[in-house]
Amino acid sequence: MFKIGRNDKCWCGCGKKYKACHERSDEENLKFYVENGYPIPDRHLILTPEQIEGVKKSAKVSVAIMDELDKFVKEGISTEDIDKLVYEMTSEAGGICAPYKYGDFPKHCCTSINNVVCHGIPSKNDVLKSGDIINIDVTTILDGYYSDMSRMYMIGDVSEEARKLVEVTKECMLKGIEAVKPYRPIGDIGNVINDIADKNGYGVVRALCGHGVGLKFHEDPIVNHFRTDSKTMVMVPGMMFTVEPMINAGTWDCNVSKKDGWTVTTKDGSLSAQWEHTVLVTEDGYEIITL
Ligand code: MF3
Ligand code: CO
Ligand code: CO
Repeated sequence: MFKIGRNDKCWCGCGKKYKACHERSDEENLKFYVENGYPIPDRHLILTPEQIEGVKKSAKVSVAIMDELDKFVKEGISTEDIDKLVYEMTSEAGGICAPYKYGDFPKHCCTSINNVVCHGIPSKNDVLKSGDIINIDVTTILDGYYSDMSRMYMIGDVSEEARKLVEVTKECMLKGIEAVKPYRPIGDIGNVINDIADKNGYGVVRALCGHGVGLKFHEDPIVNHFRTDSKTMVMVPGMMFTVEPMINAGTWDCNVSKKDGWTVTTKDGSLSAQWEHTVLVTEDGYEIITL
């Protein structure tokens, strides 16, 4: 079913042959999806227990960095200084910052303020002021394993409108994650998120998505955060991906900076928020790896 040989070791890490372990139940669980033309994940998207342990160690570093940033992300700090802190803490822990030299990305994390949707580039010219909301996105590579997460920080006195956007976006992420279930299509996640955004009159960004993560920075599956009735990839135990909705106070439409090729902003100038976790599909639901 996963292009895995009957005599190969089972994906679950039990050490037994596939035919002696999950082959039958995989066939039963996936039958409907195979027959109806849904994409089935390739074997390489299923992490072994050892690999999952590796990503968990990497995630410990990412989480510790985000927790520590709480003390520093205040009025008056520049995003360049935040970047330095992320670099120092990652190095200290023996890790590597995945964004640095990812394509031509020049910094170690992404810092996206107010109307910046994502991929904001840290700069000494961007100094946080009271009322700002900022997303900081950290991706750590530790021993070759990638963990990807981001959080929002509210600076000083934030408007009610901004606070609500930040909170509703977090709810979008968490409720989206609750839709992670083996042998369900991954499009379930976006359906849940889009409903919450609609109720609040917000736009769900369509141009950027969650992604497989763990062994690489960006990998299949695509995790869209918007509603779809198309046939999306089936979730199976051992798959790992991010859920990282970007929610705009206005419409979903975005621009990419012509100047730096990275910074994504809302087309209508409205505020945007984002939260991100790395999530594992388990045999009975999900586990948030970046907690
Ligand atoms: N961390 C981002 C994500 O969630 C990706 C950033 S790519 C970079 O997928 F090059 F801008 F760092
Ligand atoms: Co991501
Ligand atoms: Co990220």
